[in-house]
Parts: sequence; C-alpha cells; structure tokens
Amino acid sequence: MSRKILVTSALPYANGAIHLGHLVEYIQTDIWVRFQKMRGHQCWYVCADDTHGTPVMLRAQAEGITPETLIERVHGEHTRDFAGFHVGFDNYYTTHSEETRACANEIYARLKAAGLIETRIVEQYYDPLKQMFLPDRYIKGECPKCGASDQYGDNCESCGSAYTANELKNPYSVVSGAKPELRQSEHFFFRLSDRRCQGFLRRWTQGEGRLQNEAANKLQEWLGEVGENKLTDWDISREAPYFGFEIPDAPGKYFYVWLDAPIGYMGAFMNLCHREGLDFDEYWGADSSAELYHFIGKDILYFHALFWPAELQHAGYRTPSKVFAHGFLTVDGAKMSKSRGTFITAESYLAQGLDPEWLRYYYAAKLSSSMEDIDLNLDDFIARVNADLVGKFVNIASRAAGFISRRFAGQLCTCDESLPAIQASRDRRALIADHYEAREFSKAIREIMALTDLANQYVDSVKPWELARQPDREHELQAACSNALNLFRLLAILLKPVLPALAAKAEGFLNVAPFVWEDGGSVLAAGHAINAYQHLLTRVDKKQVDRLVEANRESLGAPPPPAPQHHAEQQEKAAAVAVAQAAVGAGGGPHISIDQFLTIDLRIARIAEATPVEGADKLIRLLLDVGPLGSRQVFAGIKAAYEPSALVGRLTVMVANLAPRKMKFGMSEGMVLAASDADGQAPGIFLLSADAGAEAGMRVK
Ligand code: 2FM
Ligand code: ZN
Repeated sequence: MSRKILVTSALPYANGAIHLGHLVEYIQTDIWVRFQKMRGHQCWYVCADDTHGTPVMLRAQAEGITPETLIERVHGEHTRDFAGFHVGFDNYYTTHSEETRACANEIYARLKAAGLIETRIVEQYYDPLKQMFLPDRYIKGECPKCGASDQYGDNCESCGSAYTANELKNPYSVVSGAKPELRQSEHFFFRLSDRRCQGFLRRWTQGEGRLQNEAANKLQEWLGEVGENKLTDWDISREAPYFGFEIPDAPGKYFYVWLDAPIGYMGAFMNLCHREGLDFDEYWGADSSAELYHFIGKDILYFHALFWPAELQHAGYRTPSKVFAHGFLTVDGAKMSKSRGTFITAESYLAQGLDPEWLRYYYAAKLSSSMEDIDLNLDDFIARVNADLVGKFVNIASRAAGFISRRFAGQLCTCDESLPAIQASRDRRALIADHYEAREFSKAIREIMALTDLANQYVDSVKPWELARQPDREHELQAACSNALNLFRLLAILLKPVLPALAAKAEGFLNVAPFVWEDGGSVLAAGHAINAYQHLLTRVDKKQVDRLVEANRESLGAPPPPAPQHHAEQQEKAAAVAVAQAAVGAGGGPHISIDQFLTIDLRIARIAEATPVEGADKLIRLLLDVGPLGSRQVFAGIKAAYEPSALVGRLTVMVANLAPRKMKFGMSEGMVLAASDADGQAPGIFLLSADAGAEAGMRVK
C-alpha cells in the first residue's frame, strides 16, 4: 500500500556555508527519501533556510546589506550546494515567507487562546552603543567560577561550568565592546510547564518508535519523574531591532527565531502544496494519517521533541510520527577544524573536482540509526571508495559492456537466473529494504557489497576476457557478459538511493526506464539491446583530497576576527598610537577572507573638534561626526604631525566598531586611520582623507 510521507531535514541557518558536517544529515535524509520514492510511496521532502535572528541581522549589517539581500544570496548558495550533492528536495524554501508567517501567527493565536502564552518581565543585558538587547552568545566576560577571561554568556570553555550571562564578571558586548547594562522588557512565554504540556509530552515521547532509545532516555531526564515539574516555560519573543516576524498585536516584539524555524517545515510544505495541488491538512491536520518525520542533529532534540510537539498538539495540528536524531561528524577522529583544513565546505569539495557520490557512499557505509558520531577518515574514504565502488561495483559493468556492444550489437541473451549471485541478489532484497527503512545504511551497504563480491566471483570464474579470445565460444561470451550486466543492474538498483547520478548513467547505458525498487525482482529479457557503455565513476586520487584539505586550511597566522580589546595593556598601546598602521613588510602578512575584512566597520568621519590633550604630548582629542552613527570621541597619536586646529572640518576614515576603551583622559570610541612608518613614530604620520563628495557616516569598503 502506498504511504503518504512528509520528511524534513533541519533548516540550515542563512548566515553560513554548508559544510561536510551538515551534509551528513542531508545525505542521510535524501537516501531515505529516495528509497521511499523508489518503493512507490508518496514521499515529500521539504527544507528551507532558517533566516531569522540576531546573527543574520548582524551579519547583514557587517556586510552593509539588508537581511533580505543576505538571505537571498545565501539561499542561492545553499540551493547550489545541495543540488551539487544530489540532495533532492521537493521544495527548498525560506522561513522568511508569507506561508511561514501565516502558520506562525496561527499557532501563536491558538496557543494564546488555549491559555498557553503569558507575558513576563525579563531582565537582560542591553548594549547601549548598539542599542539592542544581547543574546547570551554576544556577551563575553570572565567566568564567575574560574575567572577565565573571554568566556561566553552561558558556559565556560575553560572549566566547563554553566551559568547565566548576568553572572559573568566584567561583561562586554561582543558586538560593540561596550559594557552592557541590565534592562527590563516584556517577553512572551510558551507555558511548557503547564500540566497539559507535561502530561502530553510524557505520553508522546513514550510512543512506539517515536524516538530512538537514547533520545527517549534524554527526554525522560528532561521531563523528570511523574509529579516532578521539571519543564520551564519558553521565552518565544525578542525585542526590536530583530530580523524576524513581528508578533501580531505586539509592535516592536518579534518571534524568537526558534519559534518560527520548525514552523518553516509547514511553510515550505504549504508552498509545495500550492505548487503541486496537494492538500495541506491531509498532512498537518490533527487527524492526519500521513507520516511525518524530522531528521535532526542530536543537539536540537530539545526543540524537536519538547517544544515542537507540545506546540503542535495544543494548536490543533498533528504531531511528528518520529524524530530521527543523528550524531556529529568528526574528520580523522577529531572535531572539524579550520586550522587543520578539515572544516570542509560543500562548495570547496565540489570545486576541487571531488565526486559527490564518493561522499554519499562513504557516509552511507558509516551511517546507522543511532545517535553516535560518525568519522570521516580521509585515508579510509579513499581506500573504501576505490575498492568498493570502482574496484568492485563499476568494474563489473566496464568488463562486460564493451564485449556486448562490439561483438553482439548491444544485444543481451538470456540471463541465467539460477546463478548463485543472481539468486542471492533476489533473496537479500527484502533484508536490504528493511535496513534502508530502518536507516541502517551501513548494514545495507555491507549486504550490497557482499552481493558485489559474489558478482565478481562469477565474472572471475567465467573470465569473459579469455572467452573473447576463443572464436568458438562466442555464445558463452555473450551469456557471461549478459549475466554480468544483469548482476550489475541488480546492484545498481539496490544502490540507487545512495548513488542516484551513477544509477542514472547506468539506466542510460542499460537502456532502461528509471529504476524502481521492484525492478530488482526481475532480469533483463533476452534480446534487450543496451547503449554504448559510458564511463561511470573515477578513482579518488589522494592528491585531490590533500588539495581539498589545503584549500580549507585557514592559516594559523591569520589574525582572528576582530575581538574587542579589553586587556589593559592592549588598550594602552592602541590608545597611545591611536592610528591604524599601514601594513608593512614585503608580503604584508597572511591573507584574510573578505568576511573577516567586512567585520571591520570603516566609516567616513568629519573632524568636528580637534584639541590638544593635557598631559599627553602625542595625542589629539578628536570629536568625529559619523553621520547617522552620531559623534565619537577618539584620541589619536598624531600630534607630532598635525596642528589640532588645522584638522577641523576635514574628512577622514575611522574604525567605527572598535571596542570603546576608557583612557585616563576619557572614553576613546574608535580609531582614525593614518599611514606611518613601521613603528608609528613621527615624523611621517599621514591621516587618510576622502575625496570631495564623501559624506560623514558613509561606509568604506
Ligand atoms: O540548528 C540549526 O542549525 C537550526 N537552524 C535548525 C533549525 S531546524 C528547524 F527547527 F527549523
Ligand atoms: Zn570557568
């Protein structure tokens, strides 16, 4: 019976590139979806960019573009990368859509009507310079437990303790460097602690096969014992400025990105419904009999197994049939690392000319239904792809097809269905299907490779290349090659969910309709004519992999993205000179990426006031007019070269997002740019200026 299935993968954030870690999930999901489609089920696979939130807003600002422009560009990049790896979404949409907005508003309204939304005053850090509330990850300071500096607002990477941002010592805003202030504002909460939610989640998480055992145990831990009220309400709103959906009837308040992200699954599907004429309610209505599966990383289980089903249930929608969590990717046994070159982007993998199906195969060979991490061992990757795919699988076709084309005008003769290799392929199909269904891909691959070995044993036993040298054994040659091609075809059918492009090439040269799973139950008829063999897959060359790692290696010498300067010593040094020194030396130092460069907010500034600083013979106090950014006080170490009064009125360039620092003479709120010799000593300090027409506040890029 044909099933109706809706499948999702987690929505990637719209402010970063897809990398090999992401691809574990998309490839895993895509294999599963392709398998379902081959089985004849009505299976839809949707995903979207997760576009809202502070990081997207700030990233767009840093690039000097609107968030809309940013998310559109990233959407193009993500779509390209997924297509490059044959991830076949039926719809790849965006959460910044009217469909998602409508669903978010509807869910919010229904939860409110059910008495599950409440408002509360929240005290939170606020950046007075940037004029925005700061999410925890945008606050750093000293760990309240061990004193380590530069720790994020939620936990310490040095001693591992967890705390709240308010507990950090000497906090500063990662966005502007300013000292944050605690401010109060009204927030909206989803009342997860309500008895209805708790009761429902206890039942739901225990549902048969709903969650993997490991995940169910986690949930049990989060829910606590019956009677224990461990769940806390969830803050679903954020204050302006925020890039997201404004909450209906609450001007200036926005839905938190994690509220509308999973709703983006609905939005993407609704959009597909309009295109395909599908009935949205058939899949999302409270009494839907369709199946709904979410593939996710284990880190976002909380959102998908607590908040999401509780929201859906109490807003009158169906809840997910199952949530499938997977582990993380390690490369050569360690966390992906930029300095080691193992933080590999999808784009670079393809640009270096590596075949996407090598990776699909390798991941499949490693994936199981568990939440364990999987390791991409680069040497093993090369060895396995070359041995299994090129050495064993493709080899069967390449050895047989040429003879059939050249000697027999492409015609096959009867396949010997009593061959053990053919019979085994038939016998194992159901088991292999079970493995695919259960997401035990590594088991499926192991079975398929065992069949491939049998097929090769057959070819080795009949030796077509020897038969070809004996004119009186023409018929045996045709039979051997026909059997071999039939074996190849059966294997290609079994591997099609993993290797869709290779399967398409096989369909092409075998001259058959796109394989469906049922095709594995029969062989090609005598007299069937194949097309000329076409090359199917090349070997992985170690040099390619080395080049890939090199291309992704970020120089250790490269300067880190500008972090607020907060060490007293650095402050002193920077303030005393207060000029950005022109790069010196032959090479000018290591390269930085355009993204790193764009994090520096350079602006045209008009010098409104310039006065000497008492007690500092190198400094001039400048009051800079930076247009819409307001005015800034800067202490510049340029007195040896300039008479203060001569500077008034001229345009120069300043770094506008440098951490403000307190100096003996007052706050320094930026830095002006000047050229100088190696150590910034007079004479020879040359303040930059702008051509006529530039205006205060303009961005310099
Ligand atoms: O963790 C993440 O990358 C999120 N962007 C995933 C969102 S999944 C879903 F809820 F939308
Ligand atoms: Zn600590």
